[in-house]
Amino acid sequence: MVTIAKTSIAEGTRTRELLMQHPGFRFAGVGSYLPDEIVTNDDLTKNMDTSDEWIRERTGIGQRHVGGTTSSLAAEAAKRAMDRANVEPADIDLLLLATTSPDFICPGTAPAVAQLLELDCGALDIQAACSGWVYGLVMANGLLLQGMKRILVVGSEALDQITDYTDRNTGILFGNGAGAAVVEVDPSGASELLGWDMGADGNYVSILYAEHGDVLKMDGKEVFRQAVTAMQRSARNALKMANLTVEDIDLVIPHQANIRIVEAAWKRLGFSMEKTGMRLEETGNTSAASIPLVLDKVLDEGRISEGDTVMFLGFGGGMTWATTIVRYAGERA
Ligand code: ACO
Repeated sequence: MVTIAKTSIAEGTRTRELLMQHPGFRFAGVGSYLPDEIVTNDDLTKNMDTSDEWIRERTGIGQRHVGGTTSSLAAEAAKRAMDRANVEPADIDLLLLATTSPDFICPGTAPAVAQLLELDCGALDIQAACSGWVYGLVMANGLLLQGMKRILVVGSEALDQITDYTDRNTGILFGNGAGAAVVEVDPSGASELLGWDMGADGNYVSILYAEHGDVLKMDGKEVFRQAVTAMQRSARNALKMANLTVEDIDLVIPHQANIRIVEAAWKRLGFSMEKTGMRLEETGNTSAASIPLVLDKVLDEGRISEGDTVMFLGFGGGMTWATTIVRYAGERA
């Protein structure tokens, strides 16, 4: 265990002093999975008054994947992450599954995923909409501090179950997919969770929600506005905790909702698109799965090296938002 300095974070009413010990935070394996069936923008024009050109220009989305269930997609992504980490089911101490589209309202989906993976450990769902996987990273770090050695953090969505593909307000956005990471203790000191931020504001439940048995309803303009604000605030809080500036970040992976949301937030924050991981054109908005889906892609592209400072920045329904900043170490880095 390495002891790090006292850090202070002061933002609004939240002021606290933290004296942290960190166990390291290594991405032992990362994997993702997209179901085979693709719905292109042109396919959507058969059921709604829209066009490929409009969707690309207003959202940055070119297609979305559909099919599968949240548990089956999660298990495929997690298997890939576990293979890359070269670990057996017995090596996993906990499964955290972030999802907005669980297989059932009750029970949670994580136990079914654990069963598919033959895990013998605790398993629970995180419902924090599109921020869920980043919430999971913060929780995993805390549990590594408590003595766990290896935690599987999965984001998985079968959003086609709650999306009306004839509604041009929401049907153009959402798709299915899953991403997973095995995070583990790292006594070498090479990796670390440097800073984080999590927040929620229930005043905005009504701008993006699905009632029992119904599809997603959204006030797109208000979601857009709140997302840009939440991303800025959350990124700044996490940077302050880590005692870093925007210039210190080597790569940022934002939630993939709409390219214009990212561009608007970056304009105010000072991030560049060159240092940004994106997979929106290929996947659409996959909610809790979107950030680990991008992480797997940028690792394939060789865009993260050992020791890089990487930011994960999520926001979503609730509203919820979450950011983590890590000194990165792991496979393919
Ligand atoms: N195809 C073609 N034209 C359309 C479409 C469409 N799908 N939707 C709206 N239009 C038209 C409208 O009729 C309007 O036409 P008019 O000017 O002749 O009246 C024009 O385009 C502009 O409509 P707006 O509603 O203002 O479109 P906007 O630019 O706001 O884009 C969108 C809509 C894409 C939904 C945008 O508001 C958005 O992306 N919001 C954020 C949504 C989001 O990210 N949600 C999820 C985030 S959280 C999470 O991930 C769970």
